[in-house]
Amino acid sequence: MYSKKVIEHFKNPHNQGQIEKSDAIGQKGNMACGDVMKIYLQIENNIIKDIKFETFGCAAAIAVTSAMTDIAKGKTIDEALAITKDNIVKDLGGLPEPKIHCSMLGIDALREAINNYKNK
Ligand code: FES
Repeated sequence: MYSKKVIEHFKNPHNQGQIEKSDAIGQKGNMACGDVMKIYLQIENNIIKDIKFETFGCAAAIAVTSAMTDIAKGKTIDEALAITKDNIVKDLGGLPEPKIHCSMLGIDALREAINNYKNK
């Protein structure tokens, strides 16, 4: 059902945890399933130097957000805002159709964190 890469990210998520002195935090919940995603950013000169996540979420949401943090790290905040679910799903080698919505949880939390940073 899941690609090998999805299972790897789920079993060994990258960038999981908190950033103690983060520059921005974003949190999003999925009303349909009740899962919650929180993203922490450390930003220097508009570049994402570090990114971490915490979640109460399903396997797909964990795997997608783990992959997303790898993609976002080192990007400018505007480049990170342009990351789409298709970028991540492609990077993961696909997701089962019923799990596609899970790919938005991390992206939405990332966008919220960046917008919070911009509005500081
Ligand atoms: Fe809730 Fe996947 S089922 S994010």
